[in-house]
Amino acid sequence: MGKHLVSLSHAFFVVTLLLIFAAHMSLAQILFQGFNWESWRKEGGWYNNLKAQVNDIANAGVTHVWLPPPSHSVSPQGYMPGRLYDLNASKYGTLNELKSLISAFHAKGIKCVADTVINHRCADKKDARGIYCIFIGGTTDGRLDWGPDMICRDDTQYSDGRGNPDTGNDFAAAPDIDHLNPRVQKELSDWLNWLKTDIGFDGWRLDFAKGYSPDIAKIYIKNTAPDFVVGEIWSSLSYGPDGKPASNQDTERQELVNWVQGAGGPASAFDFTTKGILQAAVQGELWRLRDGNGKPPGMIGWWPERAVTFLDNHDTGSTQKMWPFPADKVMQGYAYILTHPGTPTIFYDHMIDWGLKAEISALSAIRTRNGINPGSKLRILVADADLYVAAIDEKIMVKIGPRNELGGLIPSNFSLVASGSCGYAVWEKR
Ligand SMILES: *[C@@H]1O[C@H](CO)[C@@H](O)[C@H](O)[C@H]1NC(C)=O
Ligand SMILES: *[C@@H]1O[C@H](CO)[C@@H](O)[C@H](O)[C@H]1NC(C)=O
Repeated sequence: MGKHLVSLSHAFFVVTLLLIFAAHMSLAQILFQGFNWESWRKEGGWYNNLKAQVNDIANAGVTHVWLPPPSHSVSPQGYMPGRLYDLNASKYGTLNELKSLISAFHAKGIKCVADTVINHRCADKKDARGIYCIFIGGTTDGRLDWGPDMICRDDTQYSDGRGNPDTGNDFAAAPDIDHLNPRVQKELSDWLNWLKTDIGFDGWRLDFAKGYSPDIAKIYIKNTAPDFVVGEIWSSLSYGPDGKPASNQDTERQELVNWVQGAGGPASAFDFTTKGILQAAVQGELWRLRDGNGKPPGMIGWWPERAVTFLDNHDTGSTQKMWPFPADKVMQGYAYILTHPGTPTIFYDHMIDWGLKAEISALSAIRTRNGINPGSKLRILVADADLYVAAIDEKIMVKIGPRNELGGLIPSNFSLVASGSCGYAVWEKR
C-alpha cells in the first residue's frame, strides 16, 4: 500500500512536471512580420515569394507570422479595405495562394496572424467628387452590405454617417465604422471567424486599435477566440525641452497596459515604448534601459507577458520610415529584444533584405534553447551610457554597447555564444 502511494505520488509529480514544462514551452514565442510597405509590388506575387522562405523563417525559431491585410482594398497595401470577403482582389496574391502559404506555415508549426483592419471601411467606387472613401450605401460585398447607419455620425471628413459616435480616435482617411451597432459586431465577428475556419488564420493583429475602445476589441476577441492577438496602440514618447525623450515614459507604457487590461483575454500590445527608448539608448545613452526601479523602461518592465517588442514595422521603417530604428544599430536592438522578456518580433526587411538571417537566427536559437519566454526574469547589472549588461533567467547574459572591459561581470561558467561587430555579445551558462 505504502509503495503504491509512493509510486502514485511519483507519477503525479512527473505529470505535473510535464504540464509545467508544456506550459513553459508554449509560452516561448517569436513573431515574424512577413511583409513591408512595398511587398504588394513583388513580381510573381507576395504570398508565393514568402512561401519560398518558410523554411528559413521556421529555422529562425519563429512561432507566429504576421501577414498583410488579406482583403480587397482601395490602397494596394491593404489598409483601406472595402470588400472584406474578397481575398482574390488582394495585391499580395490570390485566395488559393494565401491558403497554400498558410498551409506551408502550419506544416512547420507556425501560426498565422491576419492584419485585421476593422476600424474603417471604404466604398467600392469613387463618388462624384472622386473620393473612394465616401460611404455611398454599401459595397458589392453582399455579406457586408452596409450603409450610413454603420458609420459613426461624428466622422465629419467624409461620411454621411448616422451611427453612434466613435468610441475611439478618428481615422482621417476613411469612414470610421460604428462598432456599437450590433449588426456590425455580428457581421465582423462572422468575417473573422471565416478567416479562421475557411482560410486558416489563427490570430489577429488589430490595426489602428486606438480607433475603437478596448471594450470593442474585447467583444471581437471574445467572439473569435484567437490563439494570439496584438493591438497596435501607437504612441510616441514624451520629449523634454531639449527634444530628447524624457527619462520617464510611464504615461506612455501605462496606456499600453490599460489597453491590454481593457481588451482582456489573450490580448497583447506592441511595445512602442520599448521601441522608442531602445532606439534612443543605442545612440550612446544606454543608461535609458533601466528605470527608477531597476526594471526595463518599456512595457516589458511592467507586463512583459503581454508586450510584443519590435524594432521596426511597415510604417516606422520600410520605405515610409516614420520612426526608424538607427540602421547601424539594428543588431544591438535584436540582441536586446531576442534575449529579453516580452514576445520579440523579427521584421522581414532585417532578416531577408538586409542579410541578417544568420545573426538573427543565432540569437533566436539561444532564446529558444534556453526557454526564454515572455515572462522570463530579468536582472540588469549595468546601464551606463556606453554599456548595458543583463542576465535573463540566470541562464544567459547579454551585453550591448561599445565598451569591452566588463571587469569580471560575466562569471567564468558562462561562455560566449554570439557576438557582432555592431556591439553586442551573448553568453550562455555552461
Ligand atoms: C479566386 O480566383 C481563382 C483564380 O485565380 C478562382 O479559381 C477562384 O474561384 C476565385 N475564388 C473566389 C472565391 O472568387
Ligand atoms: C557559476 O558561477 C557563479 C558565479 O561565479 C556561481 O554562483 C555559480 O554557483 C556557478 N554555477 C555553477 C553551476 O558552477
